[in-house]
Amino acid sequence: FPPSQRLLDRVSLYQGDITKVEVDSIVNAAKRSLLGGGGVDGAIHQAAGPKLVEECETLDGCETGDAKITAGYNLPSKHVIHTVGPVYSRSRAEQCAHLLASCYRRSLQIASQHSLKHIAFPSISTGIYGYPVPDATHIALKETRKFLDSEDSDNFDRVIFVVFSDEDMDVYQELVPLYFPP
Ligand code: APR
Repeated sequence: FPPSQRLLDRVSLYQGDITKVEVDSIVNAAKRSLLGGGGVDGAIHQAAGPKLVEECETLDGCETGDAKITAGYNLPSKHVIHTVGPVYSRSRAEQCAHLLASCYRRSLQIASQHSLKHIAFPSISTGIYGYPVPDATHIALKETRKFLDSEDSDNFDRVIFVVFSDEDMDVYQELVPLYFPP
């Protein structure tokens, strides 16, 4: 990918708890029922309060690779975009890669369709769903770069990658410059 300062200004890396981030939208690594679970999903539902699951109950679930938007309720962020990542399996690695790319693409599309200016992503599928972090990070960065290169993103300010662990931070720090060269 060719260098572009304008693009580099539109991505950031943040280590911490996504439920504390104050932006237009945060992404939830949800399950197909959209009714809450562990990991980041549990943290988001806990911080948002019970109205979030009430709205999720009206959505009729979500397919793997797709995304749906709700309000953020008690979260500092205005909206939650719930996406369902693939459960990783090495024997179906290619299919998993397509599905994970689709999670990022659909989440970004929904944010831009709702005229949201920023979106914060956790590292989808890399916790309970077992996706290898480097592979998943390449996919996250590649889809984001494609989106920011497209006209759909013209009114979009920023994509924030929220990482939890030091190990994940190291991977992102190594790979961001490949997709967003300084
Ligand atoms: N803020 C940011 N990142 C977090 C937080 C948080 N509060 N809590 C966990 N994470 C990180 C994890 O460290 C991991 O890097 O989010 C990433 C995704 O991990 P999971 O939450 O386990 O998500 P995933 O692998 O996509 O599994 C989804 O877990 O509980 C469920 O209902 C959910 O069934 C679904 C599955």
